Amino acid sequence: MQGLLSAGREGGARLLLALFLQLQLSASTCPCQDPSLCNPISGSKDFEVFVFDVGGKTWKFYDWSQITTVATFGKYDPELMCYAHSKGARVVLKGDVSVKEIVDPFVRAAWIGQQIDLAKKQYMDGINIDIEQEVNKSSAEYYALTALVKETTEAFHKEIPGSQVTFDVAWSPECIDKRCYNYSGIADSCDFVFVMSYDEQSQVWTECIAGANAPYNQTLAGYDDYLDLGINPKKLVMGVPWYGYDYTCLHLSMDSHNASHQVWFDNPRSISLKAAYVKEHGLRGIGMWNGNCLDYSGGSVARKQTEAMWEALKPK
Ligand SMILES: *[C@@H]1O[C@H](CO)[C@@H](O)[C@H](O)[C@H]1NC(C)=O
Ligand SMILES: *[C@@H]1O[C@H](CO)[C@@H](O)[C@H](O)[C@H]1NC(C)=O
Ligand SMILES: *[C@@H]1O[C@H](CO)[C@@H](O)[C@H](O)[C@H]1NC(C)=O
Ligand SMILES: *[C@@H]1O[C@H](CO)[C@@H](O)[C@H](O)[C@H]1NC(C)=O
Repeated sequence: MQGLLSAGREGGARLLLALFLQLQLSASTCPCQDPSLCNPISGSKDFEVFVFDVGGKTWKFYDWSQITTVATFGKYDPELMCYAHSKGARVVLKGDVSVKEIVDPFVRAAWIGQQIDLAKKQYMDGINIDIEQEVNKSSAEYYALTALVKETTEAFHKEIPGSQVTFDVAWSPECIDKRCYNYSGIADSCDFVFVMSYDEQSQVWTECIAGANAPYNQTLAGYDDYLDLGINPKKLVMGVPWYGYDYTCLHLSMDSHNASHQVWFDNPRSISLKAAYVKEHGLRGIGMWNGNCLDYSGGSVARKQTEAMWEALKPK
């Protein structure tokens, strides 16, 4: 009898503790000084500036007067979330899942549920789906991927009012790196796609000749192809590289032991030329991989160059 009573009390206490923890979880975990900053961002701006952040604290030096969305590919940083919200910018999760698994609609539903839980727990405003996996045209995965995007968008919009769901696509819709997706179906099914116009040499299987990461003509031809599919320009955000490649030259007669290099990267001038296309064709906006790449150390030369890189994003 005694034993049963104490077991009952213990059970009650455990129940109370569980209730208390639950109350704490739901009521007091907003990490922002101003609790209103935990509300999701609603409404949209005419021009999207979409920034990928890979972690660290250099986000403090971004040009927040332009930023509309930060996709956080680093560790979750509540300070970044609070700050972005104070500037009216969305903060979105990174979403990735095996395309083989999401052929099963129950797996899709479970995955979407997990992402929404995580976004809510972290007071985030949506998700950027970054599935850079091979898919054959008209395969089960091909249809499942479009369905995943559609279902994710519907669920996020319903569960987190004002939230944003986006999808990353290659620089061209022509099965780049064997990614044969239903691009127009995917664009229709989310808020917009982010076109990763970089690493455009990934299809070169012969000898690699040093060249631009995102050559001007080839980059714009990719957008022409997306528009030719009938995709609304307001569903396309142009991605530009804020990184480049340092090629060590192999065949070069040298009069010293030092290897020669060719370094290719975009600068404010090349980015401005691409940004002009964004304006001319009425695309949704522009963004970069990734925001942390610039030199934010604050020296006078670095500050000038960094400012010019941000400035180059503006449609002129
Ligand atoms: C695509 O199809 C080819 C030929 O049927 C097959 O060998 C390959 O494994 C498929 N790729 C994927 C990602 O399903
Ligand atoms: C692409 O997806 C859309 C929307 O789901 C669908 O209407 C269309 O038939 C699909 N296109 C192809 C080629 O599968
Ligand atoms: C880019 O396209 C323009 C216009 O079609 C052409 O005149 C120019 O030669 C091209 N440049 C390169 C590097 O292919
Ligand atoms: C070239 O190599 C020499 C000897 O290793 C080295 O002292 C020098 O700094 C190198 N120069 C450059 C430009 O890398």
